[in-house]
Amino acid sequence: MSRIRLHPSGREVQCGEGDTVLSALEKAGYALPNNCRAGACGECKVKVISGRFDQGMVLDMALSRDERKDGYGLMCMAKPISEELVIEWGTADAKPKLFPPREDVWFVVTDRIPRTPRIVEILLRPLGQPLRYWPGQYVLFGDEREGAPPRCYSIANAPRPDGEIALHVTRVDGGATSTWIHDRVKVGDMVRLSGPYGTFIGDPSVETPVLCMAAGSGLAPILALADAALRRGYRLPVTLLFSARCEEDVYERGLMAYWQAKHRNFEFRRTLTREARPDALHGRIPDVLPGLFADLSQHSVFIAGSPEFVDACTAAARALGADEALIHTEGYFTQQQPEYPVAERLAG
Ligand SMILES: Cc1cc2nc3c(=O)[nH]c(=O)nc-3n(C[C@H](O)[C@H](O)[C@H](O)COP(=O)(O)OP(=O)(O)OC[C@H]3O[C@@H](n4cnc5c(N)ncnc54)[C@H](O)[C@@H]3O)c2cc1C
Ligand code: FES
Repeated sequence: MSRIRLHPSGREVQCGEGDTVLSALEKAGYALPNNCRAGACGECKVKVISGRFDQGMVLDMALSRDERKDGYGLMCMAKPISEELVIEWGTADAKPKLFPPREDVWFVVTDRIPRTPRIVEILLRPLGQPLRYWPGQYVLFGDEREGAPPRCYSIANAPRPDGEIALHVTRVDGGATSTWIHDRVKVGDMVRLSGPYGTFIGDPSVETPVLCMAAGSGLAPILALADAALRRGYRLPVTLLFSARCEEDVYERGLMAYWQAKHRNFEFRRTLTREARPDALHGRIPDVLPGLFADLSQHSVFIAGSPEFVDACTAAARALGADEALIHTEGYFTQQQPEYPVAERLAG
């Protein structure tokens, strides 16, 4: 057991044997930004002021050699190897705000709905207490015994009283877990999930117009966020811009039509990159965005999808003046681990 001390607040968190710094913080309710949980995205980077840790295997693009020298580490993979690790963390009034994640929670698969040729929606209902989560968060789902390592899947709905959650899973050719979910997981199966994780949740106290951009199953966390905002009576404009190659890759049209009919402030736009239709926009989001918005400086922006999609949309939003503090992103990074020699992993 090690101790993680947060500087400058001085608060302390216990880190159990084998736990990463990120999971110890989460168990104590602290919302350290994170995305891939695999040392690939750099979201969970913090400065380690003192103490030693095993950095684990991480990508150079997520943590450069210079950053390592300057004391930075990726907390999703870092395990303390000294009694105390002091990390830089927010301000003196840093407060816990996340629900502590639970491990191996049993769910029953209640339905499977093909949404597009490559995306299946899986509905899961908990056997015990519902999972408490913030809209925009994700779970880990897989089964090692079936050769399907746990992977991140965003919850596609706001919390419901019966605890049912929906996952939208894209088939990745040759992908261990997405192929297992598509080909082997059946209605009636009992499966285990862990979570919730992630900080793609925005700040509920910020009231601005909202622009959401998604591609493929990146729609999942966006749906959960929009669902929650509309249900709680959000009055400012909410625009959801969805990018797909062709019309058959556009899904949730019925729900979008319902939200548009019910909430005057909600607008759904779709843009097709490989098909031209009179009733849809045509082209990639960075190309169509300037025609839709002259200025995004007052908007909160939420972007989810592949890392490349997220990068391109983030750049497009910045070019239209979006405020860095109001841009929230969820990149669907792959979670396969690169191999690194032990000597390069030890840091601190
Ligand atoms: C925070 C977060 C949330 C996520 N939410 C979702 C979600 O809601 N729905 C969803 O479908 N996925 C989501 N993902 C991605 C998901 O976690 C897996 O990475 C994805 O399902 C692939 O896992 P796999 O085991 O099938 O493939 P792997 O066995 O990991 O990969 C097999 C091969 O495919 C490549 N590959 C992996 N992913 C992709 C990809 N997306 N496109 C092209 N090639 C790829 C790998 O590099 C590898 O060569 C999310 C990821 C993150 C980090
Ligand atoms: S590098 Fe740690 S969450 Fe992605």
